[in-house]
Amino acid sequence: MAGKVRIAIIGAGAVSDYHHVPGIKIDRRAELAAVCDPNEKLLEQRQHDWGPTKRTTRYEDIAADPDIDAVIIATPNFTHKPIALACIAGGKHVMCEKPLVQHFSEAREMYRAADQQDVRHMTAFTYRFAPSMLYLRHLVYSGGLGVPRHFRSQRFLDWPETSWSWRQSKSLAGAGDLFDMTIHRIDYAQDLMGDMTSICGAVAQFVPRDKFADGTPSPPSEVDDWSALICQFDRGGVGVLEGTTLAKGYHFDGFGHDWAEVNGSEATAVYQLKEPNTILVGRHGQSLQKVDVPEQFLKPVGSPRDPRQGVPSTVFRYDLVYEFVSAIVEKRAAVPGFDAGAKAQAVADAVLVSSEKKTWVAIDAALA
Ligand SMILES: NC(=O)c1ccc[n+]([C@@H]2O[C@H](COP(=O)([O-])OP(=O)(O)OC[C@H]3O[C@@H](n4cnc5c(N)ncnc54)[C@H](O)[C@@H]3O)[C@@H](O)[C@H]2O)c1
Repeated sequence: MAGKVRIAIIGAGAVSDYHHVPGIKIDRRAELAAVCDPNEKLLEQRQHDWGPTKRTTRYEDIAADPDIDAVIIATPNFTHKPIALACIAGGKHVMCEKPLVQHFSEAREMYRAADQQDVRHMTAFTYRFAPSMLYLRHLVYSGGLGVPRHFRSQRFLDWPETSWSWRQSKSLAGAGDLFDMTIHRIDYAQDLMGDMTSICGAVAQFVPRDKFADGTPSPPSEVDDWSALICQFDRGGVGVLEGTTLAKGYHFDGFGHDWAEVNGSEATAVYQLKEPNTILVGRHGQSLQKVDVPEQFLKPVGSPRDPRQGVPSTVFRYDLVYEFVSAIVEKRAAVPGFDAGAKAQAVADAVLVSSEKKTWVAIDAALA
C-alpha cells in the first residue's frame, strides 16, 4: 500500500473513544479518515475530540467510499453482520468488535465473505494483547509450563445495577455477560489450550435493571448477568470459566478482577488485568511469585506504544489497531481473525443451549 491506511470508525461510542481512535492516532502508517454514527450530536462531538474527518450517518456511504481502505466496526452487536458484509463487499479490510454476531452461522458467513473477497479480517479480542497474556501464551507454546492441563478464568466486575441500555435487549445484544465479557475468556482459553470440543454451561440473571442511572425507567433486562462453563479441549486439557457483573467489592478502579491461569504438568502461570506487565508463576512445591513480563513481550514487535507510558491496564488495547494495520500493510492474515471470533461464538451459543437444556453440548465450529 502506497500511502497511509485510511480507516473509518463505524460506531463512535465508548470503545472507539477508549482505544480504537487512540490506537489509530499513534500509528504513523494509519489515519482516521471518516467517522460514521447515526447520532449527529455525537458525530459533532467526535469532530471536536478526534479532529476533522469525513463524517456520515450511513455506513453504506463508508462501504462505497473509494477513499476508505479499512473499517473498525464498534456498533451494537445486532448491526455487526450487515455492516461487515457491506464493507467487505466494498473491498474494505474489517476489524469488528466482539461478539461478532449473535449466532455462529452468521459469524461463519462473515468469515467466508471476508475470505472470498480477500480482505483482512480481525475480531477485537482485546485482552489477547495484554503483555502478561502474550507471555503466558509464550510459556504455554514453548513448553515452559510442561503439558497444559487446566485452564481457569474469573472475570468479576462490580457494576451498578442500573440499565445497560441496548446491551440488555436479547434482540440487540444476544446475551449479557456471556457475550460481553465471558466470550473474551472463551477466546483466549481456545488460543492457549486448543479448541473446545464440549462444554457444560449456565447463565443466570439476578437484577432487573429497570432504571437508568438517572432514575428514569428502562425496559427490564432480558439477558444474563452471570455466566459460567466447564469445558474439554481438543488437546486433552479441561477448563473452568466464570464471569459476573455483580461481584460486590471487586471494583478495582473499574477493571474488576480478571484472572486467567494455566496449570501445566511442570508449572502454573497467571495473567491478571490489574497488573498486565507482571505475571505470577510457580513450580511444584513453590508458591506463586510475581515476576516482570520480559521486555520483548511488553508489546508486539514494532508497536509505536511506549509500554512505560499511560495506565498499563488500558494502553495495551492500542495494539489491536497496530496488528490490524500491520496485517494490511504486510498483506497477511490478522490475528485474531473472524475465524477466532466464530469459534468463540460457537462456544457461547452452546452455553445458552446447555443452560436451557441442562446438559453437556458438543461444539461444532467447522468454518468450511
Ligand atoms: N473489545 C472490547 O474490549 C470491547 C469493549 C467495549 C465494547 N465492545 C464492543 O463494542 C461494541 C460497541 O460497544 P460500545 O460500548 O462502544 O457501545 P456504545 O453504545 O457506547 O456505542 C455504540 C455506537 O454505535 C452507534 N451505532 C448504532 N447503530 C449504528 C449503525 N448502524 N451505524 C453506525 N453506528 C451505529 C451508536 O449510535 C453508538 O454511538 C459492542 O459490540 C461491544 O460488545 C468491545
